[in-house]
Amino acid sequence: MQIAIDGPAGAGKSTIAKKIAAAYQMTYLDTGAMYRCIAHCVLNQMGDRFDNAADIVKIARGTVIRFEGNQVFCNDKDVTWEIRTPLVSRHTSDVARIKEVRDLLVAQQREYAKDHGVVMDGRDIGSVVLPEADLKFFLDADVLERAQRRKKELDEKGNGKALEEIKNEIEDRDSNDKNRLEGPLVQVADAIVIDTTGKSIEEVYEEMKIHIDEAC
Ligand code: C5P
Repeated sequence: MQIAIDGPAGAGKSTIAKKIAAAYQMTYLDTGAMYRCIAHCVLNQMGDRFDNAADIVKIARGTVIRFEGNQVFCNDKDVTWEIRTPLVSRHTSDVARIKEVRDLLVAQQREYAKDHGVVMDGRDIGSVVLPEADLKFFLDADVLERAQRRKKELDEKGNGKALEEIKNEIEDRDSNDKNRLEGPLVQVADAIVIDTTGKSIEEVYEEMKIHIDEAC
């Protein structure tokens, strides 16, 4: 079984995807982490020169991404936390708009889905990566609530930032993801749309579970 979950930043996709994967003994693939890994490698090797697409593609081709449970490894280095920094978040859409980078990662994501029952979350899963997925969900939420959720996470890590700044960053990221030519964030016609505004993880999970149980 293949389950695709798409949606904008902070809509709760990864938390829900992990919960579904655990409950249905499926594998979870965090495709955002893969784009983040490339951005992280570019920052390490080239600084913030994200205007050089040819060099970014070279770096992407030389990067081996591996998942072990909740940990993410990039060329055998554990980068689980490093890929979540605000700097990496800011630059990930710079690598994600490059066609060759997307082609490379999409091929790896499809390969992954060949051998596993998967729950995959991202921006282009239902539209590009797994257009034949058994179930497609599109999770959305009011931008202010998404920013509040993100602020709570950052505050817990001691990375406090003003709500307005976080909201602006989320809006910029969404705009970049929606407006790029390759693999933009889209709500496909056959997706089940769930607005997570004001809902707990448990409520969203129960709503999705009804559809999954029907499809099983
Ligand atoms: O899901 P997450 O917020 O970690 O994704 C980080 C960024 O990676 C997104 O803002 C987007 O630019 C990119 N991404 C993508 N396609 C995916 C998953 C993530 O372009 N399937």
